[in-house]
Amino acid sequence: MPRALITGITGQDGSYLAEFLLAKGYEVHGIIRRASTFNTHRIDHIYIDPHESNAKMLLHYGDLSDPGLLTELIYNIIPDEIYHLGAQSHVRVSFDMPEFTGNITGLGTTRILDAMRRSGIKSRFYQASSSEMFGSALPPQSETTIFQPQSPYAAAKLYAYWLTVNYREAYNLYACNGILFNHESPRRGEIFVTRKITRAVSNILSGKQHKLFMGNLDAKRDWGFAPEYVEMMYLMLQQETADDYVVGTSESYSVREFINTAFLYAGVEIEWLGEGIQTQGIVKSTSEKWNDRLQIGQVLVEIDPRYFRPTEVDYLKADISKARQKLGWEPRITFDELVNVMMDYDLLQVGITPPSKGINAVVAKGFGWTNHEFANAQALKNDIG
Ligand code: NAP
Ligand code: GDD
Repeated sequence: MPRALITGITGQDGSYLAEFLLAKGYEVHGIIRRASTFNTHRIDHIYIDPHESNAKMLLHYGDLSDPGLLTELIYNIIPDEIYHLGAQSHVRVSFDMPEFTGNITGLGTTRILDAMRRSGIKSRFYQASSSEMFGSALPPQSETTIFQPQSPYAAAKLYAYWLTVNYREAYNLYACNGILFNHESPRRGEIFVTRKITRAVSNILSGKQHKLFMGNLDAKRDWGFAPEYVEMMYLMLQQETADDYVVGTSESYSVREFINTAFLYAGVEIEWLGEGIQTQGIVKSTSEKWNDRLQIGQVLVEIDPRYFRPTEVDYLKADISKARQKLGWEPRITFDELVNVMMDYDLLQVGITPPSKGINAVVAKGFGWTNHEFANAQALKNDIG
């Protein structure tokens, strides 16, 4: 039975990857941080008590700041594959905590690679590199685009990227960089922009929130569906030789377009007034359902400069030719389907029956293993089977 070690297993990607590898028959080990409250909600549904003979996911306490422990874990587990996803992953927060971000997001990778080198364990290694490393480089960005990082997070990821390349070349390790563009899901952390929007739209429609306060509306991102992207991580480690790959959709949308699409799916048309920090998103029209809750002209979106970044990444759009050609990568979930599935989930969380077009689309395209997100949704049970 193949054995994998995942750092960051409690995160968005780690949880989807764990599910994916368990379904492939792997024994999955994950490193989790001790917290005063449980932080395992994304993996609770796949957890089986280790005393049971069918328990294939085993969790170990650890931290990326602790090299001795990382070495011990790798030495004892002897994983065939290591997926290094753990990081301080928020770009805005990295401006507030630059040294911490360097320590965890940058040096964390060194600690794992060096643990592999010192223990002599020949695991295959995946580094969660990021399109954020391209920074101000013009789109479309590919494996050969020159990196121009614009944040402490991007600089830390770039350091980790080059360490991965260096250990591959210096010590002949099978080590890959997946340079992944933004990928989202119902499990996305609540302070990343997409989830902030889908939660806010749902809260506004249920009367729990009055307005959505945003930063830069004009930044453009190449947004894909996270469960698809973890499949690519796995594929990169199954090749004959280790290499680095860009993974994205090759389509890009602005934050403003994301907001429009999310509201529209729920039955609210937004019109934009003003410019810069005076910009406002108001209700242009609504479906009948919201007549008693929203008024035409009501302000739903405003700008709060607190959410601006000291330096911004304006435009990310992937050139996926290499992954397409060598890994057979073809994104399956469209931008609209992604927004819809996130909206379906967040509407359910506030007790609103969702249109369900999103969940039906992802299930129809083979992501049945995300069903548990919707398991308690009476309204959807018949649809998703
Ligand atoms: P995420 O949801 O923020 O998850 C980050 C994970 O790292 C969590 O499990 C977190 O544990 C863990 N972690 C943080 N600090 C740690 C520490 N000191 N020691 C051990 N574990 C620690 O991130 P994600 O969206 O799943 O992304 C996964 C990886 O891909 C990250 O490295 C991210 O930078 C990178 N990436 C993400 C995207 C994207 O669009 N999602 C794109 C490109 C690259 P807790 O749960 O305890 O906080
Ligand atoms: N978070 C957030 N909150 N972002 C906002 C807001 C807001 O209120 N308003 C506008 N934005 C803009 C940001 O300025 C940025 O241009 C864009 O929305 C996306 O922000 P995030 O969702 O926070 O993601 P990110 O692109 O900075 O970083 C994510 O993607 C990277 C890959 O390119 C993270 O997942 C990183 O870990 C990942 O490496």
